[in-house]
Amino acid sequence: MKGVVLAGGLGSRLYPLTKITNKHLLPVFDQPMIYYPIQCLVNAGITDILIVTGGNSAGHFLQLLRNGSDFGLARLSYAYQEGEGGIADALKLAEEFADGEPICVVLGDNIIERNIKKAADDFRAQGKGAKIMLKEVHDPHRFGVATVTDGKVVKIVEKPKEPETNLAVIGIYMYDNEVFDICRTLKPSDRGELEITDVNNEYVRRGTLTCEVLDGWWTDAGTFESLYRSSTLVRDGGANRMDA
Ligand code: DAU
Repeated sequence: MKGVVLAGGLGSRLYPLTKITNKHLLPVFDQPMIYYPIQCLVNAGITDILIVTGGNSAGHFLQLLRNGSDFGLARLSYAYQEGEGGIADALKLAEEFADGEPICVVLGDNIIERNIKKAADDFRAQGKGAKIMLKEVHDPHRFGVATVTDGKVVKIVEKPKEPETNLAVIGIYMYDNEVFDICRTLKPSDRGELEITDVNNEYVRRGTLTCEVLDGWWTDAGTFESLYRSSTLVRDGGANRMDA
């Protein structure tokens, strides 16, 4: 399985911090944010990774990460997303890189305490379809929210005003190669983006989506509050670190 870190978008929720740099280069405690999703993939045994970025400071990723040898990567590739067309729009750029293989996609602003090794192994054994990871949260309206019946996801709603459950869909997704055909069928949402939730709901419709609940803490780092919290969480016991 190959890995994809999505680090595009304009990070406008963090203005003015993101006016002159990319959100994923901001510090989370003592490391640049992008280190955490890369390490998450490495910990799952994935060492062939594509970073999708965008905006003005894209060259800084190359300066920072070079060929990925600091992480022990076999190969580090880069793609550039024009504009901010959404997570599924950024994912489209990974099609040639994937080259028919399954992929594990991690959003560049998602940080976890432990690892996804078991889920990745389970998905390798699953062989087709998709797998998402869920986590109980106290503020589900900020995320994609899953309704689960008998261990199966029956629907996902993106940022519902009145969430049916408190199970957030975290930004770690595993897909077979059908994901790229699905991305081609998507229409922009009300916020003008191609939504990853629409991709996942298509796998629900096809009956090939599995889910697992993540162990340990999880946070995004895309708002001032969550960026601050992520630094505190890492400082007070982050395990998913490059030097851990
Ligand atoms: O953090 C998990 C949540 O991430 C999920 O629960 C939601 O279902 C999912 O839609 C997403 O929600 P956000 O609205 O918080 O996503 P955001 O726009 O902050 O983008 C998250 C990351 O995705 C961002 O750090 C980089 C990447 N991205 C985003 C956009 C809009 C891109 O690479 N390109 C883009 O155009």
